[in-house]
Amino acid sequence: MCGIVAYVGPKQAQPLLLEGLKRLEYRGYDSSGVAVVGDNNLKIARAKGRISVLETKLNDLGGLQGSLGIAHTRWATHGVPNETNAHPHRDDTETIALVHNGIIENYTALRTYLEKKGHKFYSDTDTEVLAQLIGELHNGGLDLESAVQAGLREVTGAYAIAVVSVKEPGTLVVARKGSPLIIGLGDKSYIAASDASAIIAHTTQVIALEDYHVAKLTAGDDGPEMRTTTIDNVEVSPDILDLEMSLEQIELDGYAHFMLKEIMEQPQSLTDTLRGRIDKREGRVVLGGLNTLARDLVRARRIILTGQGTAWHACLVGEYLLEDLAKVTAEVEYASEFRYRNPIVEDGTIVIAVSQSGETADTLAALHEAKERGATALGVVNAVGSSISRETDAGVYLRVGPEIGVASTKAFTGQMTVLTMLALFIGRRKYLANDVITKYLEELDRMPEHIARILEQSDYIKDETKKVVDRDNWLFLGRGYNYPVALEGALKLKEISYIHAEGMPAAEMKHGPIALVDDGMPVVFVAPKGSQYDKVVNNIEEIRARGGRIIAVADEDDTQIEQYAETVFRIPHVPEPLQPLISVVPLQLLAYHAAVLRGHDVDKPRNLAKSVTVE
Ligand code: M6R
Repeated sequence: MCGIVAYVGPKQAQPLLLEGLKRLEYRGYDSSGVAVVGDNNLKIARAKGRISVLETKLNDLGGLQGSLGIAHTRWATHGVPNETNAHPHRDDTETIALVHNGIIENYTALRTYLEKKGHKFYSDTDTEVLAQLIGELHNGGLDLESAVQAGLREVTGAYAIAVVSVKEPGTLVVARKGSPLIIGLGDKSYIAASDASAIIAHTTQVIALEDYHVAKLTAGDDGPEMRTTTIDNVEVSPDILDLEMSLEQIELDGYAHFMLKEIMEQPQSLTDTLRGRIDKREGRVVLGGLNTLARDLVRARRIILTGQGTAWHACLVGEYLLEDLAKVTAEVEYASEFRYRNPIVEDGTIVIAVSQSGETADTLAALHEAKERGATALGVVNAVGSSISRETDAGVYLRVGPEIGVASTKAFTGQMTVLTMLALFIGRRKYLANDVITKYLEELDRMPEHIARILEQSDYIKDETKKVVDRDNWLFLGRGYNYPVALEGALKLKEISYIHAEGMPAAEMKHGPIALVDDGMPVVFVAPKGSQYDKVVNNIEEIRARGGRIIAVADEDDTQIEQYAETVFRIPHVPEPLQPLISVVPLQLLAYHAAVLRGHDVDKPRNLAKSVTVE
């Protein structure tokens, strides 16, 4: 997804901007560009493809000199990925340059208006419209800040922008609505970015810009100054936040890929998620963020869980947990469907938005929709200070640390852990006996240890993966709590190895998909011992009878499974509601090894972005 970095301060801007762009690479992009304001000039370089291509171009140009600049990685929405459509965009007098994340929805109307005024357009993007509009207002006499405010008052859609002008060589103007933008407070400087990873090397003190807010950042002889206003020019005073991430956390730490590092980190990340939140002696879950809403949660008539992708799979596990342990009606909705389908939100409805990034456009919009219809909104989010975390009434952070790999792993186990604690938090206040809670809490506490044991099988999983990695069609099947895990296993495999995989409830396979099974087709069964184990074994036999090659995730002490499965990945035996937390781990490793064996760029899979901030 698109990324922004912008700098104003005493240093040369270009090296800082390039370094920031490299830190944003993991988000996915197809082109990039930089604009720097120097002595009475505005220089731009843009390139299709990797940032290294842009870097070569900049070197050939001898670098762009100046201490004010903006930079961007683009992930195409309007117009093909090429140099002309890459950001920064300029107005046609080449006075201002602008980078933009998001989508300008009324860009056709604005473009017609500007063309009638004689402006010439060069790209197919919605962003160029914004550059021309702000340029027109600035050249008409408004200073840069006022021109940005006035321009944004005409815009519908989503944006995070950074703008510079050759007429104001010490001023950077940034603004946001619906797309994230944070401002790092550096030493005599400001560095703004769409993502904390581009800022963290310089400062941990940041401001998260609110929707419809504009910041004018200046660095001159008298030191840096910031003025923050609404687009209607009403002054506002934003809070300063402390970023809870370190550079070391976001680097590879000796692993070949972020995804592998993040899979391997799960014993620690889950320890962090659980820390201070479970009191085994008292049989209590302590979720400070939910205290004010405890009564609403206990009285809730319905809980709707919403998210996208992997987060949606965590919601499915949450549905089972909430009905099973908290005895509350729970439903799961794709955020993208919920936001548009006129949902019924009655009194006593709680909506839980689940998201690693806290910036997924559909999940954020579903949250707005739910709040507008009177729901109480909770967030289960990883990124501290993200839009979803700020816009919910209360919430619980995952605390799994930054997740860089596009394929979500430790965030998924973090999400399921938080939802388990939430179900116990409500269940205890309703009917769950103390000794039952205590038993679950003791088991939860052992999860990091269990996962560490499963991770020791990584080499074995790799060897087994080699035997089937050339097969292009796979099925993933599970029942009950392990049905969402089957979906997640299939998603992991397809998104990074580009193998076609389908996940579904094991019983559903007989209603059509079994027709796909042919000799040697890999069929993964998530089959730990539980209430539906015998039924899963029946399903395994049905697949075997048709030539399918069975890969099973099964309990360590399950000897029966070996009669049916060619490959078995072992997991410790845990109570059914906690099985997804560990049964997914061998599938994460399976997908990782398959992608590496097929020679793919695991952390930057084709066509995908880490955070989907456009709908
Ligand atoms: O940041 P979010 O959790 O809201 O992201 C939601 C999905 O885009 C995300 O889980 C996606 O499906 C992952 N790439 C899957 O690995």
